[in-house]
Amino acid sequence: MSAELRIEELSVTYNRKGLALDQVNLHVPQGGIVALLGANGAGKTTLIRAVTGLLDLHHGQITNGQIHFAGTPVRHFPAHKLVRMGMGQVPEGRLIFKHLSVEENLRVGAAILPRRAVQSQLAMVYELFPRLSERRHQAAGLMSGGEQQMLALGRAMIGKPKLLLVDELSLGLAPLIVSEIYQQLQVICKTTGTSVLVVEQNAKLALEFAHTAYLLQRGQVVLSGSAAEVLHSPDIKSAYLGEAKTSTGPTP
Ligand SMILES: Nc1ncnc2c1ncn2[C@@H]1O[C@H](COP(=O)(O)OP(=O)(O)OP(=O)(O)O)[C@@H](O)[C@H]1O
Ligand SMILES: [Mg+2]
Repeated sequence: MSAELRIEELSVTYNRKGLALDQVNLHVPQGGIVALLGANGAGKTTLIRAVTGLLDLHHGQITNGQIHFAGTPVRHFPAHKLVRMGMGQVPEGRLIFKHLSVEENLRVGAAILPRRAVQSQLAMVYELFPRLSERRHQAAGLMSGGEQQMLALGRAMIGKPKLLLVDELSLGLAPLIVSEIYQQLQVICKTTGTSVLVVEQNAKLALEFAHTAYLLQRGQVVLSGSAAEVLHSPDIKSAYLGEAKTSTGPTP
């Protein structure tokens, strides 16, 4: 079954006070890495909540549009059903269990697997992230931020998701460790065929690794295309890459 995600004309409101998402269209092809960019409050997390069936929890509502996952319309599906269909998530803030060991955290993610598959999936995660293997018995809260992000990714990957949704991959992490994590994401996509939708404020970094990108502004997609197209767009340069728009008019 295809792993793709297709969002059509999606609108979302919280408490019916305006639209947090306004007729958003977005496509994550099978095996693709798609970056969702935008400033604070643009609607990135809202889109992830809508896709993962977690809007209710935050008093949000879909007012328009449809979400297709693996060929099925899933707009009304509860979160647990979506997880079983193959959605894996690294939520904003990572939400790992700090007092549990690395391996115990991974076993939480493995709860949806048949018991016989757990050991081989643990081995798969340890191969992807050797640092987690070295620290498997350590309390998760004692690891560095980058290692905790690897753990959050590993916990999502252990359930063999078809689609991985990552909110704020780079938040609070040094650029070097973020590059390392993105490289692992590329390996994951290549080796498992998993599709990835990654929310990112660091546009430059995300565009190095993603295939396509969407820029959200106040709930609307204002720019989308291949990573190269988005990287070279004057809008993204002025808004996110710290470069001024080149003036096209005559100089005074
Ligand atoms: N639970 C909520 N109740 C009411 N409004 C909300 C709620 N969560 C988000 N919003 C509003 O919806 C809009 C989009 O917020 P969202 O959290 O999706 O943005 P974001 O792009 O993820 O921002 P950030 O980069 O700060 O994480 C904002 O105006 C925000 O104030
Ligand atoms: Mg957010």
